[in-house]
Amino acid sequence: MQKLFDLSGKTALVTGGTHGLGMAISKGLAGAGARIVINDIIPEKLEKAKSEYKADGIEVATYVFDVTKEDEVKKFIPIIESEVAPIDILVNNAGIIKRIPFLDMEAKDFTDVIDVDLNGPFIMCRYVAESMVARGKGGKIINMCSMMSELGRNTVSGYAAAKGGLKMLTRNLATELAKHDIQVNGIGPGYYATEQTAPIRVEGHPFNEFIIQRTPAGRWGEPEELQGTAIFLASKASNFVNGHVLYVDGGILATIGKPANEE
Ligand SMILES: NC(=O)c1ccc[n+]([C@@H]2O[C@H](COP(=O)([O-])OP(=O)(O)OC[C@H]3O[C@@H](n4cnc5c(N)ncnc54)[C@H](O)[C@@H]3O)[C@@H](O)[C@H]2O)c1
Repeated sequence: MQKLFDLSGKTALVTGGTHGLGMAISKGLAGAGARIVINDIIPEKLEKAKSEYKADGIEVATYVFDVTKEDEVKKFIPIIESEVAPIDILVNNAGIIKRIPFLDMEAKDFTDVIDVDLNGPFIMCRYVAESMVARGKGGKIINMCSMMSELGRNTVSGYAAAKGGLKMLTRNLATELAKHDIQVNGIGPGYYATEQTAPIRVEGHPFNEFIIQRTPAGRWGEPEELQGTAIFLASKASNFVNGHVLYVDGGILATIGKPANEE
C-alpha cells in the first residue's frame, strides 16, 4: 500500500515554494521521497527557505525566475532538468492576491493578478509538460486553485477570475495531456493558519469569527493538512484521477452555513 504513495526517485518543482502553503506541500512531497526544487522571484526568500528546509533535513535546489516570463521559464526548465533531474511533478503554487473593491480597481491591477495566477501556470505547464511528453514517462501537474475558483467575494475580482480560469485550465490540460499519462489536478485550499493570516486569527476579530462560524470544521486549517492531498495527487495512487480540483477547506464549499443563533 505504501508504494502507492511513494515518491522516491521523483523530482518535484514547486513554484514559489519558499514559505506558507507551498513550503508545507514541498515538505510533504519530500517526506514521501521526492527531490524538491523551488523557485521564486526574490533571491533572499529562496536563501531563507533553503535553511528552513535544511533544518528539517531536506535539501532543496533553488532557482530565481519569474513564472510569468515565458523566456525565463523556457530557459530555466532545461537548466533544472540537466542540473537536478527531469521534472516528474509540477506544483503551480506561486500566486498573488490584490484586495481592491471592483469600482476602485484599475485594469492593471486585474491583469497583474491574472498574469501571476493564470498566465504563470499556463507558461509553466506549457514547458514542463512539453518535456514530460518528450520523455514519455508521464507526469503529475497540481495547480493551486482556491475556493474563489467556485465562489465570489468582495474585493477579489482579479483573483476569482484567475483562480476560476485556473480550474478550467486544469480541466482542459487534463483532457489534452491524458494520452501522455500526465494527470492534471488542482488543490483548492480553504482558510489556513499562515504567517499572513496571523494578525486576523485572534478571538473577537470579525474575520476570525466569520471563518470559525462559516467552516463546518469550526477552525482554520493547518498548512500541513494539505500534505496528504498533495502526495495523493503527485503519486501513483491518483493515476486515474484527472481534471479534478480537490477542495481542502474543512467543508466550507459543502454548506450554505447556518444562522448565528442556530445550534
Ligand atoms: N494562503 C491561503 O490561505 C490560500 C488559500 C487559497 C489558495 N491559496 C493559493 O495557494 C498558493 C500559495 O499561497 P500562499 O499564501 O502560501 O502564497 P504566498 O504569497 O505566501 O507565496 C507565494 C510565493 O510566490 C512567489 N511569487 C509571486 N509571484 C511570482 C512569480 N511571478 N514568479 C515566481 N514566484 C512568484 C512569492 O514571492 C511568494 O514567495 C497561491 O497560489 C494562493 O493563491 C492560498
